[in-house]
Amino acid sequence: MNLHQLLKSGTGLVLPGETVERAVRERMLKLGLSAREDYAPLPGTPEFEALVDLVTVPESWMFRDPEVFETALRFVQRRLLSHPGRQLAILSLPCAGGEEPYSMAMALAHAGIDPAQCRIDAVDLSQAAVERARLGRYTRNAFRGAGLAFRERWFRKDGNDDGDAYLIGEAPRRYVRFSQGNLLKPAALAQNAGRYDLVFCRNLLIYFDEPGRAAAAAAIQALLLDDGLLLSGCAEAPAFCRGGFAPQSPGIAYALQKQALATVRLRPRPAPMAAPKAEGARPAVKPQAARAPRETARAPAAATVGGLIAQARQLADAGRLPDADRACQQALALQPGLAEAWFLLGLISEAGGEPRAAERHLRRCLYLQPEHYEALCSLALLREQRGDASDADLLRRRAARVHARDGKQGATR
Ligand SMILES: C[S@@+](CC[C@H](N)C(=O)[O-])C[C@H]1O[C@@H](n2cnc3c(N)ncnc32)[C@H](O)[C@@H]1O
Repeated sequence: MNLHQLLKSGTGLVLPGETVERAVRERMLKLGLSAREDYAPLPGTPEFEALVDLVTVPESWMFRDPEVFETALRFVQRRLLSHPGRQLAILSLPCAGGEEPYSMAMALAHAGIDPAQCRIDAVDLSQAAVERARLGRYTRNAFRGAGLAFRERWFRKDGNDDGDAYLIGEAPRRYVRFSQGNLLKPAALAQNAGRYDLVFCRNLLIYFDEPGRAAAAAAIQALLLDDGLLLSGCAEAPAFCRGGFAPQSPGIAYALQKQALATVRLRPRPAPMAAPKAEGARPAVKPQAARAPRETARAPAAATVGGLIAQARQLADAGRLPDADRACQQALALQPGLAEAWFLLGLISEAGGEPRAAERHLRRCLYLQPEHYEALCSLALLREQRGDASDADLLRRRAARVHARDGKQGATR
């Protein structure tokens, strides 16, 4: 095997040749080597690990996709009630430089949940990333959202720096244990089989090929408890669904359960016009809307397109699907080309048990706004569930491209 193949089989990552060559040049320069044939590190050696560190993409930031952490926290809170006295176990894999597990730790601490009630194992392939995570020192790139109140509460300024760096505080640290590990080498993770209540596995499968994705899904199946919850990246959900997972509820592409459990929960689906309140009927369009008081959902129709869309989200989250549908139709009467309204209609139709209509609406949304990330993810899931894996894969790739581009834009802010 050449070095490129060794890296692929060791990590699962599908790496462009140029990425490997750049990393090799960097290592050779560091080691003072000039002849390419002199550089042949073997898997398992520190030099191979150093090369792996250079080809991985440890891109992450605090509270990346905030709704995912809200879903996670709600799950933990419910589970603590149903499993009193047991310490819950969360896995963050890959954890990159610690941004994801520390975000969850902050959410737990903020909610008053003690480390004795819930701990987090955080694992990444890159030893350098794990060391950075243990250090817990972050600069501007780790703080990309608008709301940074959490930074004031849980971090302190790093005194050795010119003011741009922050160190994570002791309180969030107490929840998290970091280690180096490879999702595709399940033997190393076997001791934790069937141990986790909640697993974050986000923004990793997008770098794998199909066999790698299948192996990753199987590994997560083994790690997660049968009634546990998997939080994936939106674009990766279809691959997990091919590997035996299914959405916990319609319309939320990233929250997945083992298939047997999810199938029971989602069946029977509510009748389209029955305004059901069943768990499976909740499109949960945005968690922010879910937290809105019910009075808001009953408010008279807002006059503006934006108001109607906000209202439609709230109504959908409250399970009032026909009313949500009506609010979308009113918004479309004012602005027929409103992609967001077609997207919501897609989710509402899906929650109402009308996958064909859902597909039509989501396609309409994508016709109007081809890079609507959530619509791409939701449609990919629908196509997957209806047996069209190749269409789902195309959609997933489109979503991954949008995701990667938006991530890069965020990094340059
Ligand atoms: C883009 S980051 C994702 C971090 C975080 N989950 C998030 O969504 O922000 C991808 C991480 O995957 C890690 N990685 C790559 N291949 C891996 C493997 N086979 N097992 C475990 N981690 C891996 C990389 O080192 C990198 O830190």
